[in-house]
Amino acid sequence: MNLFLAMPGNSDLADELALLTASEVQPIACRTFPDGESYVRTRGDARGADAFLICTLARPDAQFLPLVFAARALRAAGAKTVTLVAPYLPYLRQDRAFHEGEAISSRIFADLMGREFDRLVTVDPHLHRYASLDEVYSIPTTVVHSSALIGAWVRDNVNEPVILGPDSESAQWVEDIARHAGCPWTVFRKERHGDRNVQLSPLALDLYRERQPVLVDDIISSGATMIAAARFLMTTGMRAPHCIAIHALFDQTTASELRGLAQSLSTTDSVPNPYVQFSVATPIATELAPGQV
Ligand code: R5P
Repeated sequence: MNLFLAMPGNSDLADELALLTASEVQPIACRTFPDGESYVRTRGDARGADAFLICTLARPDAQFLPLVFAARALRAAGAKTVTLVAPYLPYLRQDRAFHEGEAISSRIFADLMGREFDRLVTVDPHLHRYASLDEVYSIPTTVVHSSALIGAWVRDNVNEPVILGPDSESAQWVEDIARHAGCPWTVFRKERHGDRNVQLSPLALDLYRERQPVLVDDIISSGATMIAAARFLMTTGMRAPHCIAIHALFDQTTASELRGLAQSLSTTDSVPNPYVQFSVATPIATELAPGQV
């Protein structure tokens, strides 16, 4: 028996996944005590079940403890396995110590998660210096890709596109999306000088001057990266870009600034936000219940 349980803010995705895989959704109660501690209670029968906890981790520090409490409560209630479905998987960008004494948070976080879950399912994780999640996660992991959804949208909605990535690590997503859209692609080179301070090297775009730029990155957080790329495009005389991110970690101020530079801003629903254009529910459900969706 498969059981889906939504951590706070994840019930839309949990309901959709349960519907697509003909599984049951069980309630889980989470609240915060006046002193800030977390209360978690699972309800219903979990004995012998394969439990799927749905929790996108856009604010991982606050979400981590309640998630651990939920996983442990499910095991105590007799669940056979506990899988985490985290459409956005955090703590992958610190993949080495850039300065002496820095914690390599990607490894530590993966170690902690590996102690709590039997399996991890996620969407387009930020793999830069790691070739795969197996380099950091000891539990089985399943990676779902959103490039087919995004590429199909570009193919069907944008005339003569060129897909542009703002840095070298975006090439993996940019190339795949361009393949689905059937169009050319290239990427900038980026140097990061601070959380909100990035510099892009000028990119020769003469070949694509008449094309519609579509800027794609896996994550928009402060927006500095995407904004720098959109500003560079203004200097080339090309049309204002469509901006697409897989994971939306940005706030409303960043979104407004980007909207002022772009024709459109769109994201997947890996992190719920007002600019969702692509749903990752079907690709996730297809992985969870192959042959059934
Ligand atoms: C980093 O390497 C990612 O691919 C994104 O480019 C980055 O996380 C975006 O961050 P921000 O919006 O803060 O520039």
